[in-house]
Amino acid sequence: MRFLVAALVLACSSSAVAAPMVRSIGLYGGGYLINGLPAAYVGSGDFKEVLQLPADPGLVVKVFYADTTSSAPEMRREVAAIRALEPLAVAPRLVERGERTVRGQAAGYLVQERVRGSTLDNRVTAEKLEHVRALFETLRAAGLELTDTAMDFKLRANIMVGTTRGGPRQAYLVDPAFKASDKTAAQLGVFYDGLLARIARR
Ligand SMILES: Nc1ncnc2c1ncn2[C@@H]1O[C@H](COP(=O)(O)OP(=O)(O)O)[C@@H](O)[C@H]1O
Ligand SMILES: [Mg+2]
Repeated sequence: MRFLVAALVLACSSSAVAAPMVRSIGLYGGGYLINGLPAAYVGSGDFKEVLQLPADPGLVVKVFYADTTSSAPEMRREVAAIRALEPLAVAPRLVERGERTVRGQAAGYLVQERVRGSTLDNRVTAEKLEHVRALFETLRAAGLELTDTAMDFKLRANIMVGTTRGGPRQAYLVDPAFKASDKTAAQLGVFYDGLLARIARR
């Protein structure tokens, strides 16, 4: 009986408090340590460093810069955007969020499915373009308008074509910023045709 109770307590506590995937974030040389292991660099932008989770190459850890006052609201914004897009399956899935102390400062982080593929920074093939066209069609049909599109380099860096561990090869919004559009259906179509033309150019 005592054994049964002990087993039950153990089972409940382990399911209620699952161990976080990211237990610690540290720095060494020019790179990051996650859970004490060197984390391969995947990418970076204005707000964060994107690293591979050492124990699972199918996941990335997005570490928001601790010294940027705008990074906390930016993280909240990104989480809200990813969650809102879940029904459309156009963003890699979010699997964990949290905060760790990095060099004495609190830094937010997200764990997200890794897109194996490339951004639109490099050569955009006809096949890639078709995936982006399908992505834009999904967003257009949902009445959503991408924001943060003024600069070509951001537009290109925030869209990747590839696969996730749970999803097919397609175009993904890795850093989604959007709003409910107040454009008419026709205007929204013109907006996305314009974005597609900018991506195709070069
Ligand atoms: N889920 C992901 N899988 C693979 N690479 C990613 C993923 N998310 C971001 N990246 C890479 O990291 C870069 C920066 O990420 P992003 O979220 O756009 O950061 P920022 O907000 O700083 O612009 C992207 O341009 C892309 O190259
Ligand atoms: Mg970005």
